[in-house]
Amino acid sequence: MRVSVSALLQDARRRGYAVPGFNTLNVETAWGIVRAAEKLDIPILLMTAYDCLDHLGMETAYGALEVLARQSATPVALHLDHGRNLEEVALALKLGYDSVMIDYSFLPYEENLARTAEAVRMAHAFHTPIEAEIGHVPGGENTPEEEDESALAYTDPKVAADFVEKTGVDFLAVSIGTVHGDYKSKPRLRIDLLKEIARAVPLPLVLHGGSSTPWEQMEEAVQNGVAKINVGTEIMRAFLQGMREVPTDCLDLRKPLLAGREKIEDVVRAKAENFRTLRHAKGWRPDRA
Ligand code: 13P
Repeated sequence: MRVSVSALLQDARRRGYAVPGFNTLNVETAWGIVRAAEKLDIPILLMTAYDCLDHLGMETAYGALEVLARQSATPVALHLDHGRNLEEVALALKLGYDSVMIDYSFLPYEENLARTAEAVRMAHAFHTPIEAEIGHVPGGENTPEEEDESALAYTDPKVAADFVEKTGVDFLAVSIGTVHGDYKSKPRLRIDLLKEIARAVPLPLVLHGGSSTPWEQMEEAVQNGVAKINVGTEIMRAFLQGMREVPTDCLDLRKPLLAGREKIEDVVRAKAENFRTLRHAKGWRPDRA
């Protein structure tokens, strides 16, 4: 069943858990995520990011995800992750994504503010909630070239409050020490900073870079205002691992694709435990929020 992202994330922020947002690349990755979520009976977000858009195109991606979400026994919402420009956001809104992200976090503050405000006006005309980022989580998809961890810019709580007030965003992605993809050195999340941001910004906060971040640090983050956590790399790695376990002389393409799909289940379960979704949102339905 499709659900409202605002209802879901507001409940998560209020009750101290996070909803996992999983990146998808093809039907089988999305299918594996939904099947796992159904078994656990937890709400999730299925996300389409730049790589999926470049691979399938947004209309194909949306069409596949929409059917999976509608037929799912557990709540599923569709989210455009890292919208790269207003055209991409406009198409996602027109197609019917339940929420969108615009990511201009790599630009100077005033430009991020102005362009995000414009995206917010567009999204709200469709009554669709929108996420944007302040500070910068490196390795994201809108940056001109590959970034390393030195591009990390921590979120300043005062700037975050100003950004929220002036843009009207619904969810705020913050930078407190995570990076997209694998870490070169062990991360140390700034939970002290997160607490300050959460005091300054009452909205559901979003953490990007949910793969390979130490368990205890993630748990502390969800208890301090983080209501959505994006997970991509671990999903893709598990899928590839499953595919590689099928002998290379197998000519039945269904076998590696389904082996990949099966491997995703462990990642979804681990994140649901780590993000406290399983404990606080098992059986969640909109009317029970
Ligand atoms: P990871 O690939 O590190 O899990 O990050 C995913 C993400 O934040 C997508 O927006």
